[in-house]
Amino acid sequence: MTEQPDEKGEKDEKGDEPKRKQRYLSGLQSSGTLHLGNYFGAIRQHLDLQVEGESFYFLANYHALTTLHDREAVARNTFEAAATYLALGLDPSTALLYRQSDVPEVCELTWLLLTATPMGELERAVSYKDKVAKNIAASAGLFTYPVLMAADILGYDSTTVPVGKDQVQHLEMAREIARSFNHQYGEKVFLEPEARLGTAPIVPGIDGAKMSKSYGNSIPIFATGKPLKKLVGKIVTDSKSMGDPLDPETCNVFALYALFADEAEKAEMADKYRVGAVGYGDAKKALIEKIEATFGDARARYEHLNAHPDEVEDVLRTCGTRARAICREVTDRARAACGVA
Ligand code: ADP
Ligand code: TRP
Repeated sequence: MTEQPDEKGEKDEKGDEPKRKQRYLSGLQSSGTLHLGNYFGAIRQHLDLQVEGESFYFLANYHALTTLHDREAVARNTFEAAATYLALGLDPSTALLYRQSDVPEVCELTWLLLTATPMGELERAVSYKDKVAKNIAASAGLFTYPVLMAADILGYDSTTVPVGKDQVQHLEMAREIARSFNHQYGEKVFLEPEARLGTAPIVPGIDGAKMSKSYGNSIPIFATGKPLKKLVGKIVTDSKSMGDPLDPETCNVFALYALFADEAEKAEMADKYRVGAVGYGDAKKALIEKIEATFGDARARYEHLNAHPDEVEDVLRTCGTRARAICREVTDRARAACGVA
């Protein structure tokens, strides 16, 4: 039998409760080009955490198959997401960056977990209902999506899962599945990890609704030049004219600008809005400058990686091998608990 998860931590000063080392883990579904909402809502937090503890980040291409059935797009999006993380500063000597599908053990573990997943848990999943309401085909894969996600999380003994608000229910389900499995087999096979919510607000898209790959309203992280100008130009505003006082609180352009600006810049822009010293055209120009400046260096690294895909592939393979060894060990522990070893 492999080591139990709670035996790995060091004892704390007071005595016998073992203190776990933090192991952060999160996945990003590779179903489209990554946008500013993904950056501020997820990626930035992932990058900040890589210096705080062990970090595991992966491109959830098995999950992408629940909505995307175009093999070139699946492969391309996975590569682009990996290159985006690396360009933005993921350090593969500190954090692991891998493809979900390079660890086929997660599928094996998904089956074991499915046998301990109450149907009612899956039936309550809001994201399944939302996706079906948006006319995504109601496949068994889409329905059992949260169990694959539970395998991603539990298969590495992760302690902390940095996610956006929309993923909190999935994380609760992973905890419930861990409890149910441990109870079913009378052993503490899995840890119950905690969600860690970022502080960023929901990032609005160019139409003012939540920015999302699937709503056609997103601004890609590495958009630049004319395409960026065109997208920012389309951000919906009210029809006030130059010289009129504007309301920063309700303005989509301001909301996006505020994500990039420091406190003094935000206050200055808000004042200019209120006294009518700035028009929407000027605010959009300021936003474009911020986007270009913030991601300029990363965009150059991204372009380099695009031209040298082997560099990305090397990272994915090396990290995938390391991640796989860990997931193999945990999966064997689960198999032994079930009596299928
Ligand atoms: P999308 O809606 O574009 O398909 P995903 O569901 O793949 O995005 O989200 C990936 C991560 O990015 C999640 O952690 C999610 O919370 C975060 N995220 C996505 N869109 C936004 C947004 N508009 N604002 C804040 N965070 C977001
Ligand atoms: N469902 C997540 C999303 O759409 C992606 C994901 C897959 C994930 N597996 C995970 C996130 C494990 C955190 C942990 O964003």
